[in-house]
Formats: sequence, C-alpha cells, structure tokens
Amino acid sequence: MLEHYQMPVYEYLTQTLLRHTGLNPAEADAIDLGGGDGLWLYCLLNKGFRSGALVDIDKEQIAAAASIMSKEFAAERWQAIATDVVSMPFADSSFDVAVSRSSMHFWPDLPATWRELARVMRRGGYVFAGRGFGPDLPEDIRASVKAAKYQTIYGDSNARHQEPGSLSAEELSSIAAGAGFSTVAVIPDHKAYWFLAQKNR
Ligand SMILES: C[S@@+](CC[C@H](N)C(=O)[O-])C[C@H]1O[C@@H](n2cnc3c(N)ncnc32)[C@H](O)[C@@H]1O
Repeated sequence: MLEHYQMPVYEYLTQTLLRHTGLNPAEADAIDLGGGDGLWLYCLLNKGFRSGALVDIDKEQIAAAASIMSKEFAAERWQAIATDVVSMPFADSSFDVAVSRSSMHFWPDLPATWRELARVMRRGGYVFAGRGFGPDLPEDIRASVKAAKYQTIYGDSNARHQEPGSLSAEELSSIAAGAGFSTVAVIPDHKAYWFLAQKNR
C-alpha cells in the first residue's frame, strides 16, 4: 500500500462512492478529473476497479501520477493524460464513474465541461465530485491530514492562498441536468459538499 498522509482521504471517499452507488468495482472503468498526482486513481485501482484514467491540465502532475501508476499497476489498467477536462481524448461512453476532488472550481466553463462528461460517460454512469476531505473521514484523521497538508504547503508561514469559490449545489445540479444528469445526492462536508449525479438512461 502506497504511504502518503492524504491516502485516508481517498480511501474514505472511495467507500462513500461505493456505498452511494452500489457500483461493482470489478465491472467499472473510472476516471479522475483534475486528478493531480494520482492518489485517488491509485486507491480506485487498488480497490479493484477494472481500469482507471486520470486527466489533468498540468503536465507535471501527469508525470507524477504516471510515475506512481507505472510502479504499481499493469499498463493496460491505467492511463494518465494531460488535457483540459472540457475536451478529452476519449471515445464516447468510455466510463462508468468519474470522480473529482477539489478541481471543479477551477474549470472555467462548467456547462461545456458537463456536456463533455455526458459524452464520455456511459448511460447510468456516475459523477462524484467535491471539495475538501470527504464526508465520512473521521474527525481525528481529518485533523491530522489537514495539519500535515498545511505544513507541507505553507511550512511555518502564515500565508494562505485564495482559490475560486464553488457554485451552490442547486446551481451545479441545474448545470448537470442541462447536460443530461440527475442529481442523486448532495452530501455535506464541513463548509463544502460532495455532489453525486447519474447520467440519464
Ligand atoms: C487542488 S488540485 C486537486 C488535485 C487532486 N484532485 C487532489 O485531490 O489533490 C486541482 C487540480 O485540478 C487541475 N485542473 C484545474 N483545472 C483543470 C482543467 N480545466 N482541466 C484539467 N485539470 C484541471 C489542476 O492542474 C490541479 O492538479
């Protein structure tokens, strides 16, 4: 098992995803949108997902993800591609589930990106996206992951960087509906939320 202070975040998020969807990992092809250095993809493949793709606009993140994946998994099971999520180099109906953590608030054109998601997802496929540490992460683990994260990013500096805000769940639900998805759940996570939608059959 890969050791990383953020790994519990992805383990609990994967459990949350499976509990809310009933997906059978062995029959599911997954994609992580804005997946960074690939820790969630690692977790999904480790849980037995049939295959996993990661897309990120940052080539350095893709290189980091590919470095992890190539050590851990057979090449047929994963791909890591540098691309904007608004236009992805995948065939129509390629995936059963798309996950995304702390990336959607950076996407400049959400309606167009959700239409692209509708294209690459299979009918009945799920999108599970949100921001933060996950709704089911126990508070003590959350506190230690958060402390380690801020120490890694900021050291002893008092600086904090500002990121764009997120849409309300109602606004996101409306955009997803416009692209052909139904909202399955909105799960609160401290100041943030996780959004689960299913592509209409
Ligand atoms: C805060 S990081 C989160 C990374 C990872 N999902 C995680 O859980 O740590 C946001 C990521 O989204 C990526 N990103 C932002 N806009 C994007 C876009 N339009 N298309 C693809 N990736 C994007 C960034 O390059 C970055 O790696």
